Order: sequence, then C-alpha cells, then structure tokens
Amino acid sequence: MDNPVTETKPQPSSDTPTQTEARLANPQWGGRFAAGPAAIMADINASIDFDRKLWRQDIRGSLAHAAMLARVGLLTAAEEQEIRDGLHGIARDIEAGNFPFSQDLEDIHMNIEARLSDRIGEAGKRLHTARSRNDQVATDFRLWVRDAIDGISGQVTALMRSLATRALEHAADAMPGFTHLQVAQPVTFGHHLLAYVEMLSRDRDRLRDARARLNECPLGSAALAGTSFPIDRRFTAAQLGFDRPTANSLDSVSDRDFALEYLSALSLLGMHLSRLSEELVLWCSAPFSFVRLSDGFTTGSSIMPQKKNPDAAELVRAKVGRITGDFMGLLMVMKGLPLAYAKDTQEDKEPVFDATEAATLSLAAMDGMIRDMTANTDKMRALAGAGFATATDLADWLVRVPRLPFRTAHHVTGRLVGMAEAKGCDLADLTLEEMQGVEPQIDASIFDVLTVESSLASRTSEGGTAPENVARAAGLWLSRLEENAA
Ligand code: ARG
Repeated sequence: MDNPVTETKPQPSSDTPTQTEARLANPQWGGRFAAGPAAIMADINASIDFDRKLWRQDIRGSLAHAAMLARVGLLTAAEEQEIRDGLHGIARDIEAGNFPFSQDLEDIHMNIEARLSDRIGEAGKRLHTARSRNDQVATDFRLWVRDAIDGISGQVTALMRSLATRALEHAADAMPGFTHLQVAQPVTFGHHLLAYVEMLSRDRDRLRDARARLNECPLGSAALAGTSFPIDRRFTAAQLGFDRPTANSLDSVSDRDFALEYLSALSLLGMHLSRLSEELVLWCSAPFSFVRLSDGFTTGSSIMPQKKNPDAAELVRAKVGRITGDFMGLLMVMKGLPLAYAKDTQEDKEPVFDATEAATLSLAAMDGMIRDMTANTDKMRALAGAGFATATDLADWLVRVPRLPFRTAHHVTGRLVGMAEAKGCDLADLTLEEMQGVEPQIDASIFDVLTVESSLASRTSEGGTAPENVARAAGLWLSRLEENAA
C-alpha cells in the first residue's frame, strides 16, 4: 500500500523521455519538428501552471499590439475588431473559470493566442506579426510588477496612516527608549511609532523609484533584434501607460532588473515589518506588557489555557525570510546570463508572485494589529524612568547651569548613578547634600530635570521626542497621507 506520508514527492510524468513519438509537435512553433517534446521536457518547459497569473496583462498587451498593427496598416480595421472581440471573450472565459489551460501550449501567451485563433481563425493568426514571446513576456511581466507595486504602495500608505493615527493618540505617552535593548532615555510611544512611518515612507519611495524606472515598454523589440515591420512603438507604449519604449532591443528582452529592484524594495520593506513585529512580540509578553494585541490577531495554546500568542506578528517577522530568499533566488538566476533572451528568465515569475503574496499578507496583518492593539500606557510610564533613564538630563543640566564640560558632567553623573545604585534608589531620591558631596555646584533646581515628563518636554530639537514635536509630526503625516490618498 502507498504510504501517504512518504509518497508525497512530486513524480515526473510516467512516460520515459524516449516516448516522444506519440506526442504532436507544438502547433504554435512545431513546423520544423517531426515529433513533440518528451513528457519530461513538457514538464520542465511549461510555465502555464504559474504564468497564467499574467493573463490580464497578456490580453492588455495584445490589445495594444493589435491596435498598433491596425494603425500602421498591418491589420485591417475589421481584423483588429475581430481580435479585440476575441480577446475580450477570452478574458470573460478566464474570469468565469471556463478557459481550457493547456500544458501542451506551454505558457499563457501561447494559450491565449491559440485560443484566439480557434475562436476567430485567420485574424487571430496575424496577431503575432512583429512580435515575439520574448518581448511579449517582458512586457506582460513589467505590467504585472507595475500593478503589484501600485497595490503594495497603497497598502504601505494605509499602514502609515494607521501608525500615524496611533502616534497622534500617544504623542505624550512616555515609554522607555532603548539602545542595546537596555533602558536608555524616556521617549514617547508616539515617537516610537512614527519611526516606523519614516521607514515605511522610504520603502514607498523605493517602490516608486522602481516603478518609474520600469515604466518603459519592451514590446516591439521582437525576438531580440527589433523588426523589419514599420511598427509604432511609441503608440504601443502610450496605450499601455508606459512613459516611452525601451531603447535597446537586446536589453529589453533579456534583463529582469526591474523585478529584482522590486524584490529588493520588498526585502527592505519586509525587514522593517519584521522589526516592528519583533517589537510587538516583545511588547505583548508579560514582563513588558506594553501592548495587548486583539483576539483577532492572536491564537491560543492547545495545552496552556492562559496563553495568547502573537502568531500574526511572528509570521510577519518570518516572511522577510522568504521575500529575501525570492530576491536572492532570482538574482542567482540572472547572474551570468549572456544576451539576449534565455529560457532561464522564465524562472523570474514564481519568486515575484511569492514575494508579492507574502508582502501583501504581511502588510494587511500588520495594519490590523496596529489598529487593534491596546497600549498599556501606565506600564510604559512606570518603566520609562527605570534604569536611571534621566541620567543624561542630569549631565545636560551640569553643562547648562554650572557650565561643566560635557565629559566632566558625564563623569560626575556616573558617580551619582553609582551612588543611587548602591543605595537602591532613583537619581531623584538622592538628597541634595549627597549630590553636592560629588559636585558642590549642584543646587535644588536639578530636581526639575530628573522627572520623565521634564526629560521628554526638553527634547525639542528637530526630530526629537518632545510631545509637542511628536504631535506636530503625526499631524503632518496624517495631512500628507490625506493628500496622497486624494
Ligand atoms: N514562457 C516564456 C517565459 O516566461 C515565454 C518566452 C519564451 N520564448 C521563447 N522563445 N521560448 O520566459
């Protein structure tokens, strides 16, 4: 009996590579072939199982190409109309799940083109004039990545808005700021959240940059050398919303740097989301208890009834692994490829699809967690002054009032911290006499700078954590994001 656990390895088709005679030559390019491909050749060669995702872009590209062919007189107006109607019919069939995708037709381009010819005959067979699958796939894939960038950018904007909204709400709420994950100086929770808004804004800029650079149309580069037909590449490019045609046909059909740029931008975005996830995981653990995640984004334990696990945050923390793996994988596919097109580049799609799905899910989950989380501001406030977090404020006072050089002030403060540590109290609990024993110029006004609130309020330098700064920055972001959305 088959073992269902061990028998799960994908098996190649059962017929051997020599059994090719029974298979027919490919109807799209098989003119010079007496026999069809070996079954294993068909398995390794066909991309239809994954590149069917490109169907919308493929049809858009074909509609633009047909319109251009008609414009320059390579198709009659009637033929173009037939092609247009045929392609719209195919789009409806695919949408409705009624399209017979065929592995023998290898990929989405030949599946659609063959179906078009079945539906409309001669006119369908003219569509591939002045075009090759090489420029066709390069165009379709650019269109797909461009659409994906638009989708992801919109999600990043939504997450930025959620973070800025929560930041405004917590503009004055103190929390410990960390370096080395040791309590360093008090900051506000709003300031901390806005740090991520800045990171995400750069991620969005990187996606926009990648979009601007990819927005050139490869169609018309044909197989690799251009074409002898009098095509109008500017027209095709404009039809598809590209800024211009690409400038070099060899480059156009062979490079996939636009996909790599997109994946690299997603890797950085994933890295930022992973850092925020890690903080959520820490913050909702009992020793921190800074935030509570909602039931909607946590799971229970099957054995420990008290548990509420931050699985969504953990998974977002992990997704950057696969996104970066996708980036590295495609980079390795591309390295060392000679010009121009090579079938290797067919391997460009799965990593891009996979990373897009991972990023889309991560952004949606993060947005939900941020909107739903409850901040435990009492707990954050209680720990904000722990670990002598206002020691820098004391040193700054020594520089400002008795004008000690900062290095000297640092040393004096260090001795006071040591004294408080030995007594087991906070800096503010030392007596004035004890402090004056270390530095006689200290007077009672020093106690004004030792509270968390005074520390926060004093951080008014540009980009600093003072509540007024944070409220202003959050407000600015919210209005900018409002304009973006409009
Ligand atoms: N499925 C192929 C790809 O994704 C399309 C281009 C194939 N071109 C060719 N000449 N075999 O790269």
